[in-house]
Amino acid sequence: MNQPRFFIPNRVSEEVLQFLQQYGDVDYRNKEEQMAEEEFLDGLSKADALLCYSRQKINGRILEQAPQLKAVCNIAVGYDNFDLEELTKRGVMATNTPGILTETTADLTFSILMAAARRVAEADHYVKSGQWQEWFPSLMLGKDVFGATIGIIGMGRIGEAVARRAKGFDMDILYHNRSRKTDVEEKLGASYVSLEQLLQQSDYVVVLTPLTDETRKMIGEKELALMKKDAILVNASRGATVDEAALIQALQKKQIAGAALDVYEKEPVDPDNPLLKMPNVVTLPHIGSATKETRGKMAMKAARNAVAAVSGEVPENLLNEEVLQNMK
Ligand code: GLV
Repeated sequence: MNQPRFFIPNRVSEEVLQFLQQYGDVDYRNKEEQMAEEEFLDGLSKADALLCYSRQKINGRILEQAPQLKAVCNIAVGYDNFDLEELTKRGVMATNTPGILTETTADLTFSILMAAARRVAEADHYVKSGQWQEWFPSLMLGKDVFGATIGIIGMGRIGEAVARRAKGFDMDILYHNRSRKTDVEEKLGASYVSLEQLLQQSDYVVVLTPLTDETRKMIGEKELALMKKDAILVNASRGATVDEAALIQALQKKQIAGAALDVYEKEPVDPDNPLLKMPNVVTLPHIGSATKETRGKMAMKAARNAVAAVSGEVPENLLNEEVLQNMK
C-alpha cells in the first residue's frame, strides 16, 4: 500500500514534521505567505490529508481537484473556512483544534478590551510620535474596567475563559448564548440575559461566537443602537459576526465610544478602511491564538488529527461525524 501523503502548504515546527514523517510522506512548503492557488491545488491533488490555517478556504471547487483527499485539518478552532456540507458529501473528514488556544485567545481578548478602555495603543502612539509636550489632567482619560459590566456573546470555552478574567476584575458578568450555561453561572456568577438586555446594560460587549449562518452580522445597526453611548465593542471571533459598515457608522455617529477588533469582514483589512483612522478603535491583525507555545500545540493537534484520519481512525476533533457513513 502507498504511504499516505500529508500536504502542509505553510510553515510548521520541525517537531510536527518529524511526527508526520513517521506516518507517511510529507509535502511541506516552509512559507509564511499563502501559496498561490495553482501551486496549492497541485499539492492538494496528490494529498491524503491537508494541514491548513483558517485563511485557506476549502469548498466544492477546490475539492474537485483533490480526488484522494481524506482529511482537511485546520490549525484553528474556527472552521468557517470549510464548506462542511461539500466535505461530507465527498467523504472528506474535517477537524479543528479546540481547547488548546482557549487561554491564549482569552488573554488577547481581555488585553484588547483593556487597551481600548485605557487608550493604550493611542497613548503609545502619542508618546512615540513626539506629541507629548506636557502633562495635563485630562490627558488620555479612559474608562474603568474594574467593577464595570461585561457582556459576553457566545459562552463557549473562550467566553468562559474571558469571564474568569472578568471575575478577577470584579466585573458584573452578563452573557448570551444559544443555551444556558448553569455551571458558568454558578462558578463565576454570570447572568444569562437576552441579547437586547446584554447590549443595553454592558460597558463592554465582547463577541466570541463562532461564525455560522445564524451569527453572521448578528451585531448590526439595530444592535449597535441598543448599546450605551460610552460602551466599547470587542470582537475576537470572526469579522463577519459584526456588520462592519454599521459599526463604522455607529462609531462615526458616536453611538458607542470605541471598539477593539482582532478580526474584520475582509482580512487583511483594507488600508483605507475607516476603522483604521479612528483613534478610539484598537486594531489587531487576527492574532488571538498567536503565541509560540499555543501555535505549536495547535499544529501538533492538527497533525494528530491528520494521522488518525489517514489511519482509518476517528480523529479526536472530527467536525463532520456524518462523514463516517460516507468514507472513501
Ligand atoms: C483563530 O481565529 C482560530 O479560529 O483558531
